[in-house]
Amino acid sequence: MLAAYTELKYAEKVKQFLLKKGVLHLDHLPVKELDHIFFAMNKKVAVPNAKVVNTKFSFPERQKPVTIDELLKGKLTAKELELLPRTQELVGEILILEIPDELKKKEKIIAEAYLKANKHIFTVVKKSDIHTGQFRTRKVTVLAGKKTKETVHHENGIELKLHLERTYFSARSGSERLRIAQLTKSGEEVLVMFSGAAPYPLVIAKNSEARHVYGIELNPEAHTYALENVLLNNLQDRVTILHGDVKRKIPPLKKRFDRVVMPLPKTGEQFLDLALLKAKKGAFIHLYSFLDETEIDAYAKKVKEICNKLGYSVKVLDKVKCGQFSPGVFRVCLDMKVLS
Ligand SMILES: C[S@@+](CC[C@H](N)C(=O)[O-])C[C@H]1O[C@@H](n2cnc3c(N)ncnc32)[C@H](O)[C@@H]1O
Repeated sequence: MLAAYTELKYAEKVKQFLLKKGVLHLDHLPVKELDHIFFAMNKKVAVPNAKVVNTKFSFPERQKPVTIDELLKGKLTAKELELLPRTQELVGEILILEIPDELKKKEKIIAEAYLKANKHIFTVVKKSDIHTGQFRTRKVTVLAGKKTKETVHHENGIELKLHLERTYFSARSGSERLRIAQLTKSGEEVLVMFSGAAPYPLVIAKNSEARHVYGIELNPEAHTYALENVLLNNLQDRVTILHGDVKRKIPPLKKRFDRVVMPLPKTGEQFLDLALLKAKKGAFIHLYSFLDETEIDAYAKKVKEICNKLGYSVKVLDKVKCGQFSPGVFRVCLDMKVLS
């Protein structure tokens, strides 16, 4: 086979030359021989610092990344392939497979294909129900790979250990967490109500100059993960997590905050009295809700009225769509400022 033969010290130079000329055979890996190296070529050209030779041996094939479609060809019909959602949620090394009912019979085959297609995936699970109960947890079933539901997720410069069934977590909210961190100003004291395994407190602390971030979580298992995650990220000097019900934990707090984050979309507004009680004048509140697109303005108006009834005046600065719950229904964050 045609090849450029050079000393190892010229390897990078020769490779760049071959790439620039478009003559490097990309299907083959280079072969080393003592202090020399062979690069397979697809056309004969003169190469500076190398001899062009015809080798007797054949070069090893470069492994091409295989796509899900290639792996499922022949196992799923073209119509079935079209039904497969193109984006799936990856939490740490676990892929959470979302597939329509029509493909249920083939879920194991699909799960195995994802394992093969991505070397970062060790386990594929499917959701067995939606988030329910006060802890907002859900059941998942392992379909393929390592039988585990615990993983370490990497996001916005932090590591987060969590269990998919015992703690709430959504990788899809990563950019929203970073948005809040980027709004946080130097020296702020931040309260995250409903902090779960601590993704918000850690992302805010890591990506802002907040003086201190506090989290409060009711679920004892999520709280235990949160404590471990604070240590894992070496943020124990700037993050404190409390365990318990915000209704009991917030009133006795001796401090007031520059920013309060309320990531409990179904019922968050029921806890506005607590957020307002500990928010400084001029503080920011981020309140989450699941809303139909057509209801967003009415919801903002309702929230302002709730605050007024509680004796506070707030300004809604922004209504940010930060995720899709179902067709037409969004996870929306109201960014508010406490005026008085
Ligand atoms: C939607 S999850 C959000 C968790 C976390 N902030 C995240 O983004 O991954 C809501 C969390 O609030 C917690 N929670 C519900 N009611 C609570 C309460 N009254 N006091 C404290 N935490 C509560 C649940 O256990 C759950 O972990």
